[in-house]
Amino acid sequence: MARNINKYPKIPKHKTGVKPPGISSQFMPNHVAIVMDGNGRWAKERGLPRTAGHEAGELSLLEAVYGALEIGVKYLTVYAFSTENWKRSPQEVKFLMNFNREVIHRRVDEMDEHGIKVRWSGRQGKLWKSVLDELKKAERKTAKNDRLTLTMCVNYGGRAEIADAITDMARDVKARKLNPESITEKKIQKYLYEPKMPDVDLFLRTSGEQRTSNFLLWQSAYAEMVFMDVLWPDFDRRHLWQAIEIYAKRERRFGDAKPN
Ligand code: IPE
Ligand code: IPE
Ligand code: MG
Repeated sequence: MARNINKYPKIPKHKTGVKPPGISSQFMPNHVAIVMDGNGRWAKERGLPRTAGHEAGELSLLEAVYGALEIGVKYLTVYAFSTENWKRSPQEVKFLMNFNREVIHRRVDEMDEHGIKVRWSGRQGKLWKSVLDELKKAERKTAKNDRLTLTMCVNYGGRAEIADAITDMARDVKARKLNPESITEKKIQKYLYEPKMPDVDLFLRTSGEQRTSNFLLWQSAYAEMVFMDVLWPDFDRRHLWQAIEIYAKRERRFGDAKPN
């Protein structure tokens, strides 16, 4: 039977033609989460406005996506705008909202062709409706894909997610749809924004800052943390692969202990 070998277009290569390192499947992270940080500093170093740093970050995101496809990561979740980022100047917030909408609009066909399922995670609340509409459109368009799930966290906060889950659970308890005695960690997960999102294996942050900044608090309980000094606009797939190599060497214990 003829195999459909041309199901997907070729993955665009890195400009150097570099290939991913061979990592044995048992040491590969299934879910990589990235805090895309350092855009402002990158721009400042060049005497440019902060927004120029955000613009330059679009190509880094594509690098992360193609790098993930090449090496075989199944879930990639990126922090694009936090519930705390509303504290920034109105000009920067406005820029980021418009920019997020445009990037999704510009890139969704490309993501779809490569078999990528695009998802949004975050709180609806203050999020611009036009941004939410674009994200929902991308979700619908790519719903059938299963090669890689790319979750865009826009107006996302880990505490907000847990608070929203608790609100929904309390509502269900009140309506007698949920028995408080039956609440388990598994049930709580069903009330999160993306119940099907698996636990984070590799939590990666660029720019040298060593904090979570409220990203995926529940899902990252046992994630391996890798902090890299590169600023997000300078990030490319080689950094992702380097982080995966660091991850592959870590010993994950999950609280268990090996006998001596
Ligand atoms: C990350 O870069 C992008 C967003 C938070 C939206 P920053 O804008 O935080 O860049 P730095 O940390 O100021 O350098
Ligand atoms: C986290 O970065 C949010 C995103 C990358 C979208 P921030 O730059 O906002 O985090 P802090 O302020 O350094 O903690
Ligand atoms: Mg920052």
